[in-house]
Amino acid sequence: MQLIHQTVAQLAERNQPLPLCTYIYDLSHLRARVRAIKAQLPANCELFYATKANPDRKILAALADVVDGFEVASGGELDHVTSTLPNVPVIFGGPGKLRHELQSALDHSVELIHVESLHELKQLQALAAQSGHHQDILLRMNIALDDTPLTRLAMAGRPTPFGLDEQHLPEAMQVLSDCRNLTLRGFHFHLMSHQCDADKHIQLIRVCIQRYKAWMDTYQLEVNHLNVGGGFGIDYSPTAAHFHWETFCQKLRDLINEEDFTAHTLRFESGRYITATCGYYAAEVIDIKQNFGEYFAICRGGTHHFRTPAAQNHNHPFTVIAGRNRQRESEIEGENVTMVGQLCTPKDVFAKQQCIEKIAIGDYVVFSLAGAYAWNISHQNFLMHEPPGFEYVESGRQ
Ligand SMILES: Cc1ncc(COP(=O)(O)O)c(C=O)c1O
Repeated sequence: MQLIHQTVAQLAERNQPLPLCTYIYDLSHLRARVRAIKAQLPANCELFYATKANPDRKILAALADVVDGFEVASGGELDHVTSTLPNVPVIFGGPGKLRHELQSALDHSVELIHVESLHELKQLQALAAQSGHHQDILLRMNIALDDTPLTRLAMAGRPTPFGLDEQHLPEAMQVLSDCRNLTLRGFHFHLMSHQCDADKHIQLIRVCIQRYKAWMDTYQLEVNHLNVGGGFGIDYSPTAAHFHWETFCQKLRDLINEEDFTAHTLRFESGRYITATCGYYAAEVIDIKQNFGEYFAICRGGTHHFRTPAAQNHNHPFTVIAGRNRQRESEIEGENVTMVGQLCTPKDVFAKQQCIEKIAIGDYVVFSLAGAYAWNISHQNFLMHEPPGFEYVESGRQ
């Protein structure tokens, strides 16, 4: 944290007279984290990065040598990743793919397309036939999850626009038998995000493996690839009980052995768990006021830069650093304070009624865990404020 605080102070100095507002990404931490995550995975597992979590080009470049490839979920992400990193393995998923996006995926020879519906399957076959391509695919499935607990962001186990309902699988197999330009390599699931419980995630992967094996038997398939999506969670609460990777990997190894699954590739496409911890959003306090008895600290910026807390409806963790030009007369001590931005909406809140030792106008508020689903999910044009700065550091932190 020391380097981040130093960087905040330097950037604030450089930014004067404007109050500070910036993202800081710690790239050496990102690489070290992913190396450590990958090192613990069983041998038949692969780790792809879900670009949607943060498509920043320097983050993608930092990840290029440490992940096995990149998952994209739109033509935009496909162009972005392939132009940033021309030689990395790319897989293309997501609902509602447009014709020209499918064509672009074929033209880029992506490793796999995750097909989401019967319509998409037929459309992809027609495009591949017309343009003389051969494409490997996975079918994305939505399955019943009777005894498996859902998280607060479930994409499956209930009606959603994602994947193929299992009851349509016989028809998909029928269609596939006529698809001369497509080869089914296996199945794809991204059942839920925000999973903070390693045991529950193992339970979920067991269900995926068992469904996959049952379909292999039923349809006499020669497939060898199961993608179980991402979903490993980050706990933004003060207890910060993030997904326990070591426990997960130990239990995953046991599961793979129990299910005799070593001959199949088990792929993950993780987003939040990979990049959340490398990012910080730092904003200078530009006003402090009391309203109906409650204190508010107004920071430069807002949820149009950093929508994560509003999107997740949580109090985002932060620290307060004393600013060089802090206005001592505005200081409040030991009070509950709501941290907000500059937008004209009561929804522009980073954290509500947090007990703060000391805060004054001119201090810097540094939000951690801001590297995933942050800048790129924010409503950046609302009110037409300037964008934040972007700074990249190498802290050496694990
Ligand atoms: C298909 C798919 N794969 C992977 C991810 C990444 O999920 P997470 O960031 O929770 O790991 C998502 C997120 O929505 C997704 O929809």
